[in-house]
Amino acid sequence: MKTIQEKVMDCSIENHTSLKGKKVLLRIDVNTSLGENGVVDPGEDWRIIKSYQTIDYLVDKGACVVVISHIGREKEESLKPVYEYMRQHVDIGFLPNYDAELLQNSIENMQHGSVIMLENLRQFSEEKDNDSSFLDTVIGLCDLYVNDAFSVSHRKHASVHDVVTKLPAYFGLQFVDEVTELSKTSDTDTNTVLILGGAKFGTKLDLLAQFLPKVSYALVGGALANVFLRERGFEIGNSFADDVDISHIVNSEKIILPIDIVDQHGDVASIDGVGKEDIILDIGPETEKLFETIIDQSDTILWNGPMGKYEDGYVAGSVAVADSIARSGAFSVTGGGDTATVILEEELEDNFDFISTGGGAMLDFLVQGTLPGIDIIINKNNE
Ligand code: ADP
Ligand code: 3PG
Ligand code: MG
Repeated sequence: MKTIQEKVMDCSIENHTSLKGKKVLLRIDVNTSLGENGVVDPGEDWRIIKSYQTIDYLVDKGACVVVISHIGREKEESLKPVYEYMRQHVDIGFLPNYDAELLQNSIENMQHGSVIMLENLRQFSEEKDNDSSFLDTVIGLCDLYVNDAFSVSHRKHASVHDVVTKLPAYFGLQFVDEVTELSKTSDTDTNTVLILGGAKFGTKLDLLAQFLPKVSYALVGGALANVFLRERGFEIGNSFADDVDISHIVNSEKIILPIDIVDQHGDVASIDGVGKEDIILDIGPETEKLFETIIDQSDTILWNGPMGKYEDGYVAGSVAVADSIARSGAFSVTGGGDTATVILEEELEDNFDFISTGGGAMLDFLVQGTLPGIDIIINKNNE
């Protein structure tokens, strides 16, 4: 019986013998938060840079590469700033809309080794509904499909799922790399600690519940912790917290919450000293020490989600956690759009054994051993 890693490697685009002149529909994830001036900030370019590996490979083999991605969650967001950034590295064109005539003229006439990028996939509601009919013109003009967007492959979205039913489908180089590295954590039965922060309540609380039986502890910070604090009876003032049902996990003894916090004035307060007007924006120094003690005793650490609102300068908790991880010597894997941004901005990348492009996708892969976007390609190739 082959492992998931072996199955993914079997479907790697590197196994395709002749790519010369082939029109390749390449799904990447260059979801990047743009700065206030609407351009890609240097600290935010890491996902874009990671996407070059497969693009360069395909260009080198003489393929015609049609690149698709989403950006943000709003339909209005444009990939144009990302395209402008990518032009520094790749000779790339950009199509501002999905007009059938424009697509036909541009894609049919592509030169070998050229690259075209299409607009934000999430401009179409069908993308999230897993209905790839909005891509049918593009699909009809392409010979094969490559998924190099590991970080969105936990979602059953059209560009990583339904599209696979319509074209021969492969994995990109970065995708294979993600599965290879993350597989190193899953086959060891070690003392694992999960560190969870950030703000994607919907995806992450569900994953947390699935992780609990497998981990020694789950250290919860970021906005996610606010939900637990509130449910455990603490005042959280005006802190950011979604209304989600956590009744099935709220009392788990494995879940360790902040014992002190940093508020909107930059002041430290103990967890029972948060006022009605206060906003929790980071974990406090006593929590950093508590988390360090637990991190120190672990063999494997999985971390997704910043401990605080780092964009506004509340970064100390995340830096402390990253430093504790490095000191512990445990095998460490981290990931997520915002988590990786903090780590790279603070130049902490050497603290980790692997930094995944995926947040929810990384956690989902580690707990399930696969992803919907993986299964559909493997099954298709083994029909
Ligand atoms: P990732 O992209 O690493 O998976 P998320 O997208 O889940 O992480 O969460 C990142 C977001 O969480 C950031 O915008 C960050 O500001 C926010 N965040 C973290 N802690 C807090 C907090 N205490 N209050 C409000 N927002 C927070
Ligand atoms: C991410 O930023 O985690 C990926 O691009 C997936 O984005 P999503 O959580 O909005 O699907
Ligand atoms: Mg994020």
